[in-house]
Amino acid sequence: MATIINGKETAGAVIAAVTEGVGSLERKTGVKPSLAVVIVGDDPASHTYVAAKSKMAKQCGFNSIQHSLPEGTSQDELEELVSQLNADPAVHGILVQLPLPKHLKSVPVIESISPGKDVDGLHTVNAGKIATGDLRTGLISCTPAGAMLLVKKIHGEDLSGLNAVVLGRSNLFGKPMALLLLAANATVIMAHSKTGDLASICRNADILVAAVGQPQMVKGDWVKPGATVIDVGINRVPAPGKCEGQSRLVGDVKYTEAAQVAGAITPVPGGVGPMTIAMLMANTLQAATRAS
Ligand code: GUN
Repeated sequence: MATIINGKETAGAVIAAVTEGVGSLERKTGVKPSLAVVIVGDDPASHTYVAAKSKMAKQCGFNSIQHSLPEGTSQDELEELVSQLNADPAVHGILVQLPLPKHLKSVPVIESISPGKDVDGLHTVNAGKIATGDLRTGLISCTPAGAMLLVKKIHGEDLSGLNAVVLGRSNLFGKPMALLLLAANATVIMAHSKTGDLASICRNADILVAAVGQPQMVKGDWVKPGATVIDVGINRVPAPGKCEGQSRLVGDVKYTEAAQVAGAITPVPGGVGPMTIAMLMANTLQAATRAS
């Protein structure tokens, strides 16, 4: 059976380090890191995520500011709020929760955030730094940064000689994840919905990262014996045997099968999920430290 990679525990260690860092920054400079989270509309899942981010920010000792805008907010109104937050020296981190309501374009909103305050690491300046191998001076997208920390817990800092396959090519996860693996010397394949014979490509992976948003798509016989499997999927599916309308969370990997073959695997929930918020806190402390 595979080693179960405990994301909750690793996230807890990151949060403890951030909380300590907040105390020492405040003692040295008087600055308290401040995170502004912007949410537009009423999507319940997004509100749950945002509430968790705000709660954790407070727990770390940050000032946590939440801007909840109505569904009907215009592009100009949203970008005007971002511009005010950019100009406010007391705000160190800005996060606009995605997805936005359909009438709003997310790219211009992300591009309107000052790169130094872009704690999501989605601005092209921050994405470009990762792409060019500068992992020091920008802000790295939270979920790939967290997934990478879990990979390094298993394999160490240097992934030389290891084949990595990333399933999914989103700007939010797949692309930055592939670039981080590459920066650590892994040999990387980025596979996606138009790739032929995904199963045989996956079977070659020493590190298999799944971020496709398809419940349990990766089967046990796609996994190379001894591989490290990082499951980024969070899919809500009906729970058989439970009452009508009840659901449970599953990843993009068929966990019970894959755990028989893998050397190490992240569970869902409790794997990559908790790392995202932890890395957001780390990025906010980083942004505040640079600004102080
Ligand atoms: N929606 C789902 N994940 C994320 C994330 O990491 N950042 C933002 N801004 N929105 C999200």
